Amino acid sequence: MPKWLDNAVFYEIYPQSFQDSNADGIGDLPGIIRRLDYIKDLGCNALWINPCFDSPFNDAGYDVADYKKVAPRYGTNEDLILLFSQAHKRGIKVILDLVPGHTSAQHPWFVESMKCEKNEYTHRYIWTDSIWKGIENVSSVLGSLRGISDRDGSCALNFFTSQPALNYGFANPTESWQLPADAPEALATREAMKDVMRFWLALGCDGFRVDMAFSLVKNDPDEKETIALWQDFRKFLDAEYPEAAFLSEWGAPDKALRAGFHMDFLLHVGPSHYPELFRTKTPFFSRKGTGNAHEFVAYYEEARRITGGKGLICIPSGNHDMCRIARHLDTEERKIAFAFLLSMPGAPFIYYGDEVGLRHVENLISVEGGYDRTGARTPMQWDSSPNAGFSSASPEKLYICQDSSPDRPNAERERTNTESLFTEIQRLITIRQKNEPLQSNADIKFLLGHKKGDPLVYLRSGVSGKVLCVINPAAKSFTLQLPGFTVKDTLYSGIVSATLAKESLFIPAESATFLMVD
Ligand code: NOJ
Repeated sequence: MPKWLDNAVFYEIYPQSFQDSNADGIGDLPGIIRRLDYIKDLGCNALWINPCFDSPFNDAGYDVADYKKVAPRYGTNEDLILLFSQAHKRGIKVILDLVPGHTSAQHPWFVESMKCEKNEYTHRYIWTDSIWKGIENVSSVLGSLRGISDRDGSCALNFFTSQPALNYGFANPTESWQLPADAPEALATREAMKDVMRFWLALGCDGFRVDMAFSLVKNDPDEKETIALWQDFRKFLDAEYPEAAFLSEWGAPDKALRAGFHMDFLLHVGPSHYPELFRTKTPFFSRKGTGNAHEFVAYYEEARRITGGKGLICIPSGNHDMCRIARHLDTEERKIAFAFLLSMPGAPFIYYGDEVGLRHVENLISVEGGYDRTGARTPMQWDSSPNAGFSSASPEKLYICQDSSPDRPNAERERTNTESLFTEIQRLITIRQKNEPLQSNADIKFLLGHKKGDPLVYLRSGVSGKVLCVINPAAKSFTLQLPGFTVKDTLYSGIVSATLAKESLFIPAESATFLMVD
């Protein structure tokens, strides 16, 4: 595993909405470069940038038309190379978004693949052998695209109808048009994707977040062949770019980390109980105290057991696919949620604007395939100037409407307020970065959190010591017996601090405390 992941704290940038530098209403790479000092000041030392490649933007760029070209609206390849070097100068790594499961229907590979005459790209996508034959009930295929090609056949879809599925073969082929995962044509798709990775790694990128990593080999119910495929990618990275980070959107660390990814996310979908912490009507981090974390803890412990501590389980504050954390939790509740996020193992991910308290903007018309996700993708609010400093375009030209409330938060105000969420997150990151037991690879043991209504008490153990993290979002206090520890120092506390004396742990209401213990 690349050493830098030990202490990485990521910041996710949705490039459309971060900083516009040329007044076209859309964020761009020079805009991101301008804001690198802000990210450094927050304390993050790694970036994940959502797809910034040429695209018709039917799915916000997750429909790539040219993997090796920056979308003109974001700038040029030179701008991206400059972003790598400017970030590196500040000690910040940059990972890009790799979309290996599908392309845009406008990708030249797909244009060739639609032709009647056989060519190099005939099997680059998954096609049936007749237009009248669709693809139904095949795992990881979402219907088919038909009637737009000279070729006789329907093409498998990976997501939206504009996203034909690249062909990595089938685990259990049942039809003559289904290739096995080791067919030369399926292997050629793999090599084409490695070629894309090599291209950006050679230019200075530090790794990839891999979109829908679980979806590549079709009809692969236990994902065995997909796991084998990624193990092959990992071998290639280890041999050629051992410092490159490899992060999956899988939502199943037991599989993803076995597949060779260094990191996998817990997602708003899937079995992890992640939403129950932050995003249900009664989330655990609400002071109402009606939410629960015990099912999350059970899932997390089991995932750690299965993965044997190899690889990182990453918990994001949010992302471009789920509602903003501010929809369900107020500022004080979010401070406690961030104390949790920044004291858990794995690399934490902060979604742009969450540090400032960007709200979920409700009832927006969908932009670029965002639908209900659009409200979590609104332009960053930097200051109190027009368009909150995001762009000098006229407001109706903005990529997505901004939060129009007069009291909308902005980064400038948050940064100068010593009691803001921003300042609290800054403090928490500094503490994490100074204390190895709080970092990615140090062990964790939950001492409390297994029962409904429990607050969270967990022990982080590293090579340099132990930290007891005590997290209680509820508006009621707890006292419990906790033998075996001596407190050496209080590393962090919010407004009130938990105390441990004479084997009695007092946990105040609405508190987060990190105690260095022996
Ligand atoms: C997951 C991405 O995060 C999401 O935004 C996208 O729409 C789908 N994959 C399809 O690529």
